[in-house]
Amino acid sequence: MSLADFVRGLPKAELHMHIEGSLEPELMFALAARNRIDLPFKSVEAVRAAYAFSNLQDFLDIYYQGAQVLQTEADFQDLAMAYFRRLAADGGVHAEMFFDPQTHTDRGLPFSVAINGLLAGMAQAERELGVTSKLILCYLRHLDEDAAFATLKAAEPWLDRIAGVGLDSSEVGHPPSKFARVFEASRAAGLKLVAHAGEEGPPAYVWEALDLLKVDRIDHGNRSLEDARLTERLVAEGMTLTVCPLSNLKLCVVDDLAAHPLKRMLDLGLKATVNSDDPAYFGGYLLDNYLRTAEAVGLTRAELVTLAKNSFAGSFLDDADKAARIAQIDAYAAAN
Ligand code: ADE
Ligand code: ZN
Repeated sequence: MSLADFVRGLPKAELHMHIEGSLEPELMFALAARNRIDLPFKSVEAVRAAYAFSNLQDFLDIYYQGAQVLQTEADFQDLAMAYFRRLAADGGVHAEMFFDPQTHTDRGLPFSVAINGLLAGMAQAERELGVTSKLILCYLRHLDEDAAFATLKAAEPWLDRIAGVGLDSSEVGHPPSKFARVFEASRAAGLKLVAHAGEEGPPAYVWEALDLLKVDRIDHGNRSLEDARLTERLVAEGMTLTVCPLSNLKLCVVDDLAAHPLKRMLDLGLKATVNSDDPAYFGGYLLDNYLRTAEAVGLTRAELVTLAKNSFAGSFLDDADKAARIAQIDAYAAAN
């Protein structure tokens, strides 16, 4: 069996994917027409040509602009279903999906629109594709903590359908410490906690995410490797890192995929996982991230199996579901 077929057939979970970052240019144009919104681009090709980024902020500017075509619950449901179809085609069976409510409420949409549409898409994906999912609400870190508190308050009627909260957007200059109180309140509300840290920001931000936010997972975490004591701690705690190789390439976190630290992370004993981050912008969905990285850094089939197992072990599924998925992977690996 080819490596592509082997990895496609491996059950996988995706733990780091921003649903607004799965908006393909074709759907962007279709939603702009449906909602009578003018786009600053003439064609799908012109949109794709604009996806040349030299850092995170370059990307965020265009990503927030693209999200403006999302206006109705049906738009968010269609967006989610388009992603789930791609995930299913890649052999993904479970996703823990980020959304950025402030991107939508700040342009006048009621909080209910994005979340109701996404929940409808998640239910449809489970019915039609057998793909399960959970929702993670991200606070935008370039805004202040009061705005994050207002978002947590707006989310109250849906708290039983939100698995956790995260922290995303412009990292440098917006350390985790800025959000310590709202993470404490989120934990008290029964939510799991994750945060982007160490993508562009220094190892000190990863320490803060652990010590001040008390996160359950680190999103990215690449720069942790600059600090041996931090790396030891992450290994000792079995902390999951949601690593995004094609994102790292597109946002110039690495110069070249061959220089990506994923293999080094596994060698060090870190619980790394592979994820697509913003697949419509970064040139690949889940399977592409596995395969292109495997080719670039030379991952063995055993390492690819470990990555898939890590994706379930680090998920927010309950222990019985995790064990069942890991047993399924072991059976698949033994048979192939
Ligand atoms: N929002 C969407 N993708 C992001 C990323 N990779 N880092 C920070 N914020 C994001
Ligand atoms: Zn991200």
